[in-house]
This record gives sequence, C-alpha cells and structure tokens, in this order.
Amino acid sequence: MPQTMLLLGQTLSFEADPFAGVPQDAARHRRRGAVLIEAGRILAVDEVDKLRTAHPSAQVIDHGDALISAGFVDAHVHYPQTAIIASWGKRLIDWLNSYTFPEEMRFGDPDYASAMANRYLDLVLAHGTTSVSSFCTSHPESVDAFFAAAQARGMRVAAGKTCMDRNAPNGLLDTPARAFDESAALLARWHGVDRLSYAITPRFSPTSTPEQLEALGALWAAHPDCPMQTHLSEQTDEIAWMRRLFPDARDYLDTYEQFGLLRPGAMFGHAIHLEDRERDRVRDVGAALVHCPTSNSFVGSGLFATGDLAGEAHIIGLATDTGGGSSFSMLRTMAAAYEIGQLRGTALHPAQLWWMATVGSARAMGVQDRIGDLRSGLEADIVVLDLASTPAIAQRAERAEGFWDALFPTIMMGDDRAVIATYVNGRRVSAPAVS
Ligand code: GUN
Ligand code: ZN
Repeated sequence: MPQTMLLLGQTLSFEADPFAGVPQDAARHRRRGAVLIEAGRILAVDEVDKLRTAHPSAQVIDHGDALISAGFVDAHVHYPQTAIIASWGKRLIDWLNSYTFPEEMRFGDPDYASAMANRYLDLVLAHGTTSVSSFCTSHPESVDAFFAAAQARGMRVAAGKTCMDRNAPNGLLDTPARAFDESAALLARWHGVDRLSYAITPRFSPTSTPEQLEALGALWAAHPDCPMQTHLSEQTDEIAWMRRLFPDARDYLDTYEQFGLLRPGAMFGHAIHLEDRERDRVRDVGAALVHCPTSNSFVGSGLFATGDLAGEAHIIGLATDTGGGSSFSMLRTMAAAYEIGQLRGTALHPAQLWWMATVGSARAMGVQDRIGDLRSGLEADIVVLDLASTPAIAQRAERAEGFWDALFPTIMMGDDRAVIATYVNGRRVSAPAVS
C-alpha cells in the first residue's frame, strides 16, 4: 500500500474565481489545516483534527505555522535566458538582438542545453514554482534537454521548439518545413509522456514568415490537445514592425488567427497594447493572456490591464518571463502585478494575486484539472512558505490584522528565502539550505 502523508500547517485554497465576486470569499484559509497525500495525489484538504483522526497511520509532516499552498505555476518563461537575466539597458528588439539571440545560439550544444535546463529547474523549485510553460530555442536539442530535466524531477511542464525563419541570426533560423518537421518529431517524442506537454511555439510573428505560421497552424490542427504559446502586442515598436511585415493583417492577433493559431489552448504572453477586437476575440475564443509584470517594466513595455481584463472574464495567467523578467520568483512577480495594478488604478487583492499565480496560470496552460490548487484529486504539487522569512517581513507580519494582511508582506517583499519546502507530485524536492 502506498504511504499516506499528512502535511500540517495553515492552508490556502480556492473555491471560486476571486475576480468574479468578493475576492476573499473565493478563497479558503485554514489556520490549522492539513493536506492528505497518497501516490502523488491530494486525497483531502481539511482541518487537522479531522484528518488526523480519520488517518491515524499517515506519516505526519508538521510545518507548524507555515502556509501550505499549491505550488506556483509560471505560465511563460524562456529557460534558455537564465544566464542573461538582468541584462542592462535595452528595449525589446535591441534586447533580443544584443543579449537573447547570442545566448540562444549556444543551445545547439546538448551539454550546454542540459546544464542550463537543470540549473533553471533547480532555481524555480527553490522558489516554490512547480510547473512552467517554457520557450526553448530553435534547436531540438534544447527541447530534449528541458523535457529530460523536467522528467527527472517529476514535474508537469509544457515546452516547445521556438520557431523562427526570419529576422534573427542565421544560426537560429529554420524554415517552414523544418519548423513543422522538428516540432512534429519533438511532439511525438514528448507530448503526454509522464507529466510533459509539447507546446507548439512560434516565437512571435515578426520572426516567422506567413508560411511558417501556416505550417505551425496545420501542426496544431493535427494535434489540437497541445497548448500553443507565443507573444502578442508587447511593445509599441514591435507592433509597428509587425504592421510593416503583415500589411494586410487586421491587427497583431490576426497574424496568428489567419493561420489557425487562435483557439482554446493558445497562450499569448504580454498582450499589453490590445485593440478592442483583439480583446473581445481572445475572450470569445477562450484563449489565454499571460501577464508578465516584471518583464513589462524591466523591458519598458507597458501596463497590462489585469483588473479590466479579468473583469471581462478573460483567462489570465501570471508569469516571470525569465529572462526578460527580472526574477525567478512568483512572489516577486505577484508584487510587480500589484504595483502595475496600482499604476492602472486597481489595487489587486492578495487573493487575486495568489489565484493568478496558481489557478490562473494552470487555467492558461489548460491543466486546471490537474494542478494549481489544493483540492482532492489534484496532483500534489505544493509549496510551504514561511510568512516571516526575513526580519523586515516578520516585523510587519507581527502587526497583521487577519490572514490577508499577514500574507501581503510576503507577497510584496518575499523571495526564495520564504520557501520552506517544495513538493512535486507528492515528493519533497527541496529543503532549506540552512535551518
Ligand atoms: N518577444 C519575442 N521574443 C521574446 C522574448 O524572448 N522575450 C520577450 N520578453 N519578448 C519576446
Ligand atoms: Zn516571452
């Protein structure tokens, strides 16, 4: 019989969408809660006493006053940009040409790709992130390396070969046929293996010809259960460039839509400068927008309209966008989302921020029936957090009036020092370096 495990601590889970009503009413906080886990699944979430009585032989791991939550889900990252995170002084197109593309050229080397994939996944697990959707590079080796590293850790991830056939260095370019064939081969090798999903990945329309977008649309039509990830309307210069490259397109979204790249399962990163038609169309189709707040300020892109879009029932994920984003931490990312909300006149509630970093991103990735919350039947991807992880946070938390006021300082000032433990599929994968 598999070992049953009982994690004790404060627990936070969701019963509804906190953007659809009073935010705190959508969440369920238990001061003395417990999560029952068996064979990688959550069997129950309830009060400690109730679950201890019902399962006297379960192995108990008491996390004391720490907060037990679903692990963070990061819906848009570029693992190959790990080593160039925090590179100074450029806006999007110059940043890609100066820092990103030269680094991505190195990922044809399987040893380098593997070293970076392992480094990246160790970093995110230490930050309490248990699931990501990653762009790779155009080299199939970069995709194999990432899936192998995620598989070894038992993680649920999505990833794909980042296709480009123009406007990038030759060493990164493929062709419409190669993009199709290499993506199809990687999809056949990895999609649905263990907890891995293949994401069809055109980088963005400025680096793909219409022929390449059409080829990837055809691939998606043949594999509609795969996610599709790309970028949309990140910077105004980029949009002007897109218009020159696609003079007949109605708008940026149309450069994807006309080639079959707009359907449920599509994830559009950034989506800051949307026209009305684009907003309506993405929502009506049931595709997802992914908010990348540290990246949007770091690269100088603009202020995503979280409050308005969530109010219109858009599916919204939250993401670091490593390494355009300036952090691996979803806590830091929630803080940036809060600040951008404030700049747009909406103070996002901690329940809304937490929901975006867990359930919202899982919805964006189409895996909300598997991960993203503490609920019976979901996979046991879990983070355990110290809500007094630094002296600065501890002294503020001491003054807290109620749970949300105690959580908010960790959202605003927390980082990997707050992470006490990360569990992937019911297995503890990281412990504090010092105790
Ligand atoms: N648009 C196209 N490629 C990228 C990328 O790597 N990072 C960001 N932030 N935007 C992009
Ligand atoms: Zn990106």
